[in-house]
Amino acid sequence: MTLVLRNIEPGLRAAWHPLCRSGEVTATPQAFTLMGQAYVVYRHEDEGLRVFLDQCPHRRAPLSLGTCEGATLRCAYHGWRFDGDGACVEIPSLGVGATVPPRARLSAPAAVAESHGMVFIAPETPRMSLPSIPADGDDTFMRGDLAPIRTRGSAGLLADNFLDMAHFAFIHAGTFGAGEATEVGPYEVVRDGDRFTAVYEHDFANREDPGVAEGIRPLVQRRRLTYRYSAPYHLELALDFLDTGGTNVIGFFLVPVDNETVIIYSSLWRNDLEGSVERMDDAIAYEVAVVEEDLLVQSRYHSLELPLDLTSEVHVKADKTTIELRRILKDLIEVTTGAATP
Ligand code: FES
Ligand SMILES: [Fe+2]
Repeated sequence: MTLVLRNIEPGLRAAWHPLCRSGEVTATPQAFTLMGQAYVVYRHEDEGLRVFLDQCPHRRAPLSLGTCEGATLRCAYHGWRFDGDGACVEIPSLGVGATVPPRARLSAPAAVAESHGMVFIAPETPRMSLPSIPADGDDTFMRGDLAPIRTRGSAGLLADNFLDMAHFAFIHAGTFGAGEATEVGPYEVVRDGDRFTAVYEHDFANREDPGVAEGIRPLVQRRRLTYRYSAPYHLELALDFLDTGGTNVIGFFLVPVDNETVIIYSSLWRNDLEGSVERMDDAIAYEVAVVEEDLLVQSRYHSLELPLDLTSEVHVKADKTTIELRRILKDLIEVTTGAATP
């Protein structure tokens, strides 16, 4: 019976999770942790990306302390060597030519993939397809990556926060929230299996539009927010500035590291920067400031868990996205674990 969602949730093992950025992976083995399990990640120039449990089958030493020798990985402790499929090919203590026990092989996640510059794994066979970011394949968009943000937090609560539309004027008063309307008007959430889309259009004061000072456009303009959620922790917000014409996309990929820790991988896609690296750097710094405002609350929750029982919190009509988040996660965990959640 699952009533609350913690970062380590066995029911979410059959799902895609980001592990790191593609650019972080090198020929030197490194450890990345997902839901309490460490994985060793490295890339061989011919054989490509490799991900295994970061635990040698011999005496469980971290393989991330080892070294790559050609296409093989040698454990730092007793020198056992493993090929790219995880099979042991050498045990130095047995001597040259000895037979290797068949159980001497590395464990791997059920699925590994790379998409939009991220490495994704599914510890068990995933129940859904990989999330996609349409703007990532669109040449009219420029991409910028925030440095990974490691924080005390709950991936469920951070997803809830990303989808929440009623906190802008309060939490973000120091950035974009100044002067934002506090009332959230009606909007619909359209669910498709373990995904949903929510579109909300509203008026806002566009103080950054030079056309306002020039008298070309009014200060109060129209903006469309399109939220796309893919279970368990892939989030995207597209902001369409309907009067000035630009689109900003914010991607938010959460790694539940352990029950206290989350790593946030966030990227921006913009089609309004005219290729300016400086303007993208400014946009990234601004987005970091926005995330830091959110973390003032998100890192301070006394209990780092997302309630999935809808009766345990008070919901209002502005909370349609975050209610749907709870429903989808609850359904996914129930179908995976076979648990009947009241
Ligand atoms: S623990 Fe890896 S070779 Fe012994
Ligand atoms: Fe926020």
